[in-house]
Amino acid sequence: MEKTDSLWYKNAVFYELYVRGFYDSNGDGHGDLRGLMQKLDYLQELGVDCLWLLPIYPSPLKDDGYDIADYYSIHPDYGSLDDFRALLEAAHARGIRIIMDLVLNHTSDQHPWFQAARRRSPEQSEGGSDPASPYRDYYVWSDTDQKYRQARIIFVDTEKSNWTWDPVAGKYYWHRFYACQPDLNYDNPAVRAEIFNILRFWLDLGVDGFRADAVPYLFEREDTDCENLPETHAYLKQLRRFVDEHYPGRILLCEANQWPQDVRSYFGSGDEFHLAFHFPLMPRIFMAMQRADLTPIKWVLEQTPVIPDECQWCTFLRNHDELSLEMVTEEERQGLWQAYAPDPRMRLNLGIRRRLAPLFRDDRRKIELAYSLLFTLPGSPIIYYGDEIGMGDDLQLPDRNGVRTPMQWEDSPDAGFSTADILYAPVLNDRQYCPQRVNVAAQRADAGSLWHTLQKIIAIRKQYSALSCGNINWVDCGTSAVAVYQRACKGEQLLVINNLSAISQTVDCSLPPGITDGIRDIMTNQPANFTDGQLSLMLRPYEYRWLLLPMQKG
Ligand code: NOJ
Repeated sequence: MEKTDSLWYKNAVFYELYVRGFYDSNGDGHGDLRGLMQKLDYLQELGVDCLWLLPIYPSPLKDDGYDIADYYSIHPDYGSLDDFRALLEAAHARGIRIIMDLVLNHTSDQHPWFQAARRRSPEQSEGGSDPASPYRDYYVWSDTDQKYRQARIIFVDTEKSNWTWDPVAGKYYWHRFYACQPDLNYDNPAVRAEIFNILRFWLDLGVDGFRADAVPYLFEREDTDCENLPETHAYLKQLRRFVDEHYPGRILLCEANQWPQDVRSYFGSGDEFHLAFHFPLMPRIFMAMQRADLTPIKWVLEQTPVIPDECQWCTFLRNHDELSLEMVTEEERQGLWQAYAPDPRMRLNLGIRRRLAPLFRDDRRKIELAYSLLFTLPGSPIIYYGDEIGMGDDLQLPDRNGVRTPMQWEDSPDAGFSTADILYAPVLNDRQYCPQRVNVAAQRADAGSLWHTLQKIIAIRKQYSALSCGNINWVDCGTSAVAVYQRACKGEQLLVINNLSAISQTVDCSLPPGITDGIRDIMTNQPANFTDGQLSLMLRPYEYRWLLLPMQKG
């Protein structure tokens, strides 16, 4: 593993992985760390650089591990700390890094801190307000549910308030997510110190960084929406300083589902997060493809501020949550719901609980085009497990579970995932997406499969630094149905052409001045013809082309 490349994340391809759903090594029906270890060769072959593991801590799993009951251990379903050490070693030996989820904002209500915090001291009189437990102040309590009324509710389908009454404490406690996830009180120095200990523990073990969950909400202040407060940034900067000082080369990835102008502050001046998800770009990729119009993508990238050189956006098409439509207008949301979630069961909160392939009705051309956009627009791309083979989803399962079903390795009824009779979730038995139709083994054996195309896309992306460090320059080709842009870095220039429409398109675009010799299609390795500085191409529906322009002289 190249330890010296501290900017590795700028050119990395990430793979988001649900350990419970990946591979079950001990036949108990749950994927585990040893199982993941057995699949590292697979991931290496796919070509990904860094795995992001969804939470693996002990948890009552009311929010699939985002409700942590112990920050210093591994959920027994997944294995042990020794298994995790072995996984890290095996991944690093293959040049694969691992980041893990770090849930800063809240714990589970089953966490011993919260259980202690609820209790009143024996000598405390009924209704008294001076609890003895030092943990009371680890959480945010109130005698009324009227404080911080400007803070929005995030899980609108389930929660009616950010306050829940606790009969044991005789007070309300504050939570931005499910009621079983009480928010930690960052005004308490002891809480702030705990988080440093947690970071130190996992970084000492060898993790390559953290995907920091729900960071905008750490502090609460009256008369604000309790998001992005200066106190929050000041604390996050301290965490970053700690990482840089003691663990250079490890990264912090910010989850803030907000506009790029607001997320920009989480990069600070290169002293806060290394990376941040670009949430608003994602629905606009779907919107652009639905409307056959590049405008939404171009618009959101124009709204995206410049970030410090050493920082990077993280881009994605799908993840373990619903496809979030928070960062679009009401009208746009209705349009996307109609197009991509016609059945009400497909909708959740302000989003769509479907996987990539079903969103595109399994149209291979559209799936590939979406990946073409993801891998050529600015940012480090993330692939969600299973989407490399076009897995489907299960709408019978509640909440977001339908996009977290067992990875389909083979065409057997258990998908080659586990030998157990009962699995944590059923293997898809849908006619179109069942393992007999969609599985890793079959796609690896078929050179024309989606898996092979994605493997190629990943490999090519990594060869061209213009795709990771270059700016984007839009090129007018006479129609907004074709997204054409140039990515350039250190003399390397690529021209990317994506036909967003369902019909063939002829495009004519002017090449940058000075191009006299060969233009090569880096996907097919064929030359592309041009005359007099003009490139004329015929594109099939949803076709994409990645062209390498010759180095410019002088
Ligand atoms: C964001 C995570 O992606 C989601 O799965 C989780 O439910 C919330 N944060 C709360 O932790």
